[in-house]
Amino acid sequence: MVDQKEQWGSRIGLILAVAGNAVGLGNFLRFPVQAASNGGGAFMIPYFIAFLLLGIPLMWVEWSIGRHGGKYGYGSAPGMFDVLWNNSIAKYLGVIGLLISMVILIYYTYIESWTLGYGIFSMVGLYHGADSLEEMSGFLSSYQGLQDGEHFTSVWPAYGLMLFTFVVNFFVLWKGLSAGIEKLAKVAMPMLFIFAVILLIRVFTLGTPDPSVPENSVINGLAYIWNPNFDELSKASVWIAAAGQIFFTLSVGMGTIHAYASYLRPKDDIALSGLTTAATNKFVEVVLGGSIAIPVAVAFFGLDMTKEIASGGAFNLGFVSMPVIFGKIPLGQLFGAMWFFLLFVAGITSSVAMGQPVVAFFKNQFGMSHRRAVLSLATIVIICVQPVVFFLGHGFLDEMDYWSGTFGLVIFATVEIILFAWVFKIDRAWEELNRGADIRIPIFFKYVIKYVTPLYLLIIMGVWLYQDAIDILLLNKTSGGNPVDPADVPYIWGARALMVGLFLLLSLFVHYAWKRKRRLGITSFRE
Ligand code: TRP
Repeated sequence: MVDQKEQWGSRIGLILAVAGNAVGLGNFLRFPVQAASNGGGAFMIPYFIAFLLLGIPLMWVEWSIGRHGGKYGYGSAPGMFDVLWNNSIAKYLGVIGLLISMVILIYYTYIESWTLGYGIFSMVGLYHGADSLEEMSGFLSSYQGLQDGEHFTSVWPAYGLMLFTFVVNFFVLWKGLSAGIEKLAKVAMPMLFIFAVILLIRVFTLGTPDPSVPENSVINGLAYIWNPNFDELSKASVWIAAAGQIFFTLSVGMGTIHAYASYLRPKDDIALSGLTTAATNKFVEVVLGGSIAIPVAVAFFGLDMTKEIASGGAFNLGFVSMPVIFGKIPLGQLFGAMWFFLLFVAGITSSVAMGQPVVAFFKNQFGMSHRRAVLSLATIVIICVQPVVFFLGHGFLDEMDYWSGTFGLVIFATVEIILFAWVFKIDRAWEELNRGADIRIPIFFKYVIKYVTPLYLLIIMGVWLYQDAIDILLLNKTSGGNPVDPADVPYIWGARALMVGLFLLLSLFVHYAWKRKRRLGITSFRE
């Protein structure tokens, strides 16, 4: 255990916390957008394959690495990699895990605060009356401070909500693992479920809002997502998008599952718990997430328009088309508030998870007190979030999201699975995973973990490098696939400099932590 004082209160609490970690904006916004813009039913096949061959194995690998590292007193990736591979480079590879969690935390906090803002705006009816997509887009960009609008003429209201969200997040981290994160998950997860079910019932009872256009119906929206369409399977981009969604939604490839698992006892089950969290997340994603935003958009705007909305990204669907719809249905203010609070609740159980690895690192490897560790992270986050807010229109957030939230995950996942299955060696790895297991994992997965998942990851990385990453790096296109506006170039470089700077800073921390460890003669951080 990482330290004697910190422990999960109960198994259900742990599972809810890890499920809360995984269930986030990705389930309700990113998934429907990915499905709709990658051929609907065509997306679901590669998506389930990626779940089976990437998602579930990586989930198990991360729980195993986390619990194993926890035995030696580590709560974050640098130390965990160090015990897997006795080489001084290992801990620096682990820095990627700290970096990704931290960078995502920085921009996710801001997005999360929009959901809170929109929840309030729904309740008070602020955006009611903006009943076209154009008007609602205008509302969003004025809120984001990108242009003047009827209700907002500066970014400060958004800034204030960001600060509030930031404080709430750090309050939870301050309270600690069991009294903060676990308690939050125990309230938030059931609440999220209830809100989602209510919204789902509302969507399913909408039918055909405009009887003169019968093809615009909820049923057709569902059919679009669920009818398999085999034509698009030959497109590499659909496979890649599916894999990317699996990563993002399960929160694998970023070092946060490890942190949660490190607080387990060496013989606690991980096989069943890992599978349960993956399955819970999947259920929330395809059943709840898949049944709300897209079907309702098809019912109100038609299929073609929905695809167009989706191609504009997750924010377009969540913050533009949904509010327009809430303006049109009876009790729209109430349902709107429910939708955005649902997103907020989903978001906060994820963002606190992103903070945990860094807090654990500061505490265990620097010997900081819990409060100091939390405050140190808070300081870094509040500084780095400034450009995210003020340079949003220049693609600062998108750049961070691409390198950390999309590309970085695949790199980290590839590194961890190679360390686990090949350096630590698959037989020990398999034994580690199965120790204390409450289920028998089919031996099939041993081979998947050893061969299939790493190969799959390497292929994805290769295709990404070739199709996207190099062009994006060289500024031939933006992460959204558009031409780069020359005016944005300094901001894009700024975002990169920030990430490189954070990487160096964290590496320096790791360097000193290990120096301290040698000086004090600590062989294990176990107390
Ligand atoms: N899985 C979360 C979602 O679906 C998002 C997420 C990405 C995340 N990276 C994370 C959550 C790291 C916790 C930790 O929205």
